[in-house]
Amino acid sequence: MEKRWWKESVVYQIYPRSFKDSNGDGIGDLNGITEKLDYLKELGIDVIWLSPVYQSPNDDNGYDISDYQAIMSEFGTMEDFDRMLGKAHDLGIRIVMDLVVNHTSDEHPWFVESRKSADNPYRDYYIWRPARDGKEPNNWGSCFSGPAWQYDEATNMYYLHLFSVKQPDLNWDNPKVRDEVFSMMNWWLDKGVDGFRMDVISLISKKPDLPDGKPGINGYASFNEPANGPHVHEYLQEMRRRVLEGRDTITVGECSGVTLEEAKKYARSDEKELNMVFQFEHMDVDADGSNKWSDKKMDLRDMKQVLTKWQKGLEEIAWNSLFWENHDQPRSVSRFGNDGEYREMSAKMLATCLHMMQGTPYVYQGQELGMTNVPFGDISDFRDLDSINAYHELTTQGVFSEEEMLRFLRYKSRDNARTPFQWNDQENAGFTSGTPWIMVNPNYREINAQEQMAREDSVFHYYQKLIRLRKENAIIVYGTYDLLLPDDPELYVYTRTLEEEKLLVICNFYGNTREYTLPEDWQPDAMECLIGNYKEVKTGRTMTIRPYEAVVFRRKN
Ligand code: NOJ
Repeated sequence: MEKRWWKESVVYQIYPRSFKDSNGDGIGDLNGITEKLDYLKELGIDVIWLSPVYQSPNDDNGYDISDYQAIMSEFGTMEDFDRMLGKAHDLGIRIVMDLVVNHTSDEHPWFVESRKSADNPYRDYYIWRPARDGKEPNNWGSCFSGPAWQYDEATNMYYLHLFSVKQPDLNWDNPKVRDEVFSMMNWWLDKGVDGFRMDVISLISKKPDLPDGKPGINGYASFNEPANGPHVHEYLQEMRRRVLEGRDTITVGECSGVTLEEAKKYARSDEKELNMVFQFEHMDVDADGSNKWSDKKMDLRDMKQVLTKWQKGLEEIAWNSLFWENHDQPRSVSRFGNDGEYREMSAKMLATCLHMMQGTPYVYQGQELGMTNVPFGDISDFRDLDSINAYHELTTQGVFSEEEMLRFLRYKSRDNARTPFQWNDQENAGFTSGTPWIMVNPNYREINAQEQMAREDSVFHYYQKLIRLRKENAIIVYGTYDLLLPDDPELYVYTRTLEEEKLLVICNFYGNTREYTLPEDWQPDAMECLIGNYKEVKTGRTMTIRPYEAVVFRRKN
């Protein structure tokens, strides 16, 4: 297998609005990030993925961009950006920008022009259609509730927005749109950034006839309907030729609706498109069919089946990205672990289970502390338009009661991941001296970076060790993965193999104590513990696996 630095790296995602506020306006900013780069260096990560920092009216917290070559005023200035980039590079940390080009803001000058008249030179930058039978052109729904079409009086036509009304979809079939996007990407790379995370890049190519899809619980077809469209690979190959070729970058495509077969095309190791993709199948194991609003707990067997399918399916062909969390998902310790008695144990267990798989691991800010979901009160505590719109739509339609919907939001809302980073036990968790834009999780007095950095057995230090082990053991990066015990409902056990070397990873996803018998080719006296979340590990042919225990053994030859 080809060795690559981005396979050997660990990426840390920063959601700038909630990371660190340097000027007391209650909103995180670039100078706040610069201040905390030493913290990230100490954690040991190699790359930062910055959620969008561009000029934006913030309908969707920066995922609605009105100027791709300017910094959001609340986050600082281009000089602040350059300083941050310079310091990151001095520390050996690379910076990946969030490339949001499936859509722009409706306040982007291109759209302001586009909506003016049907013959405006920017008209075809976006997707306009006449009404069908006096209504929307098809039955697609927006990701954020309601239809994916907005009627515009000026020209008596509808425009497509797979996300909010303020996020009109760009028309990638127009070569001028591709020229604009590619030249903007080149501008950022010339400035020195190290790559891109590409927002919903799987959605950029729509079938020309925009066919209806199967309706979901709110009556609309999924926003994912256009996933993996007819020209997506062609456009990404064009991007490779016109932007990325000859540059040493890292690229990861956010590919909602991606299948294994499609992922092999996006992230094939011949490097004609992207280095890797985010797939979401393992984020759906606790959904209620196609509906994410539920508080159903996953069945570990489903999780193992999905992750194993991706581990084996991409082996030798393409590269995986590994994640439990990001700014669109609730906190993993509350979702797949235990955020009560076993919070630290289960946070470490989840980290072990993920970081020992093949692929590039992504750590979302606060995950390295085992930050948890948030005890939001009523709907007024939420800031995320996805959560707020879904609450109103589904309670108004009578699909769920208000109590039910609040329960689901507390479990699944994106805002669970968006509360301020917990730096210390001071006011507002040390995030801001002002009023934070979203509530602080009240558990910051117990869960914060300062406390964990001072304590040897903290989640922070466990992540630090996992990241270091990756640098010291090629098998963690390049070894092949094989699942054991596929039908065990509580233990996730797998091996990694690199030539003569072998690792055995044992993770208990539940609070029960379990017996586990070693595979035939493992001898208790010929193996050593590489890392584990309990202090002492007793090896034997049959071992006792404690609640939420994670342990990794290396076989001695
Ligand atoms: C995916 C992003 O991760 C999410 O936060 C955003 O709302 C949508 N794409 C729209 O850009």
